[in-house]
Amino acid sequence: MSNSLEVIVLAAGKGTRMKSALPKVLHPIAGKAMVHHVVDTALALNPNTIHLVVGHGAQAVRDSFDTTNWKEKLTAAHCTINFVEQTEQLGTGHAVMQAAPHLSDQGVALILYGDVPLIKQNTLRQVVSATNSGLSLLTQILADPTGYGRIKRNEEKKITAIVEQKDASEPELAIQEINTGVMALACDKLKSWLPKLSNNNAQKEYYLTDLVGLAADDQVGIHAVHPQFAWEPQGVNNRVQQAELERALQTDQANILMADGLYLSDPKRFDLRGALSFGSDCSIDVNCVIEGDVRLGDGVSIGPFCHLKNCTIDSGSNIAAYTSIDDSSLGKHTNVGPYARLRPGTTLADQAKIGNFVETKKARIGKGSKVNHLSYVGDTEMGEEVNVGAGTITCNYDGVNKHKTTIEDDVFIGSNSALVAPVTIKKGATIGAGSTITRTTPENTLTLTRAKQLSLPDWKRPTKK
Ligand code: UD1
Ligand code: MG
Repeated sequence: MSNSLEVIVLAAGKGTRMKSALPKVLHPIAGKAMVHHVVDTALALNPNTIHLVVGHGAQAVRDSFDTTNWKEKLTAAHCTINFVEQTEQLGTGHAVMQAAPHLSDQGVALILYGDVPLIKQNTLRQVVSATNSGLSLLTQILADPTGYGRIKRNEEKKITAIVEQKDASEPELAIQEINTGVMALACDKLKSWLPKLSNNNAQKEYYLTDLVGLAADDQVGIHAVHPQFAWEPQGVNNRVQQAELERALQTDQANILMADGLYLSDPKRFDLRGALSFGSDCSIDVNCVIEGDVRLGDGVSIGPFCHLKNCTIDSGSNIAAYTSIDDSSLGKHTNVGPYARLRPGTTLADQAKIGNFVETKKARIGKGSKVNHLSYVGDTEMGEEVNVGAGTITCNYDGVNKHKTTIEDDVFIGSNSALVAPVTIKKGATIGAGSTITRTTPENTLTLTRAKQLSLPDWKRPTKK
């Protein structure tokens, strides 16, 4: 945007109807706080400053931006957030008054709401562009306009004012064009009109919407922009509206992913809470949750009911049902699950295989190695072509410290073995089933710990007395 843009986000309201200790604007849509959605979208417009008007839960809202992630994002965008406190909520006009002294005179002010999280970048660009001809409003025609401010137009269809529901006459209530609340105008005009607002109305509030009448009085052009999707300007006041917007966003995200070639078995049963990138011919079965930053190579197939968080899964890999993967990286043609749990720090080299009821943590599994059934592999460095038998456990924790297990190439570990770390299983070693290994085992040798098998010929089963 060529003009310096000053974004004002109103986020001081309480959100009583959420019935929650969390300030309303911190409630999530697709895993991200509503006000974070708003600030993210605003940042894409290259603003000078984002003035965040906070009141209820002010400290919590501030703290939510006090993270490395946000600091990096704001630095990269050459933008700062200016928190403005509104101690008493005397209306939307009053809220903007609190931010006014911080606005540069030359810029354009764009007014957004912390509880209206899904307005698209493009829609906002249009709202800002329309300020070339004066004051610009985002409006919508609704079948049921109840509750909203109504857009009044004269015989020439020019906008003359906004009237709030509670102040509206019968004919005004019949108007179906509503004010979404989003507005943009030159900062100098805003500053000249704000002092003229009064609270002489049904709600005894300073209405921001009265600016529209003042603009009309001053012969300033008023231009209405409409959103592409009806749900964009919807706000959240309660849990039902929150759930509605969650679905709207999920549907929109799914449509974008499918347009890019992702096969979703059912877009209605798909949840993305973050970013997903993928190559060609990837498929995701029903009821998966994708969180954080997830990257799939070509031809990756994700089975039903999987949870993938911050992970990379390279081409040709197959993740079977009910698998959970967190902070892990998987090579090409790996096979995981069903019912596998890959915890943070797991890396699988190409063609590795993790089967059912296997848990891994901070484990590097070499090329072609297999841990197929019922195992725990933690703090482990594993070479290539290793076969870990069913029920094998790396005992990495002595109750105080964690220790490392090293398993070299071509090792075969018999079922139900306990590898007590720190311990190394040398190249080509075989471990007999049921062994408890506490010391380094030699290369290419069978090592086992096992009580001798006994048979007692004189033993008789007890009989009932
Ligand atoms: C406002 C508009 C109305 C519009 C509707 C769209 C006014 C006077 N009316 O009405 O035309 O149709 O939004 O949803 O602007 N807020 C503050 N401080 C305050 C008051 C409000 O930060 O003192 C924040 C609230 O937290 C909320 C937003 O501003 O996020 C809107 O306030 P709200 O009271 O819900 O406005 P409405 O009465 O819905
Ligand atoms: Mg209200």
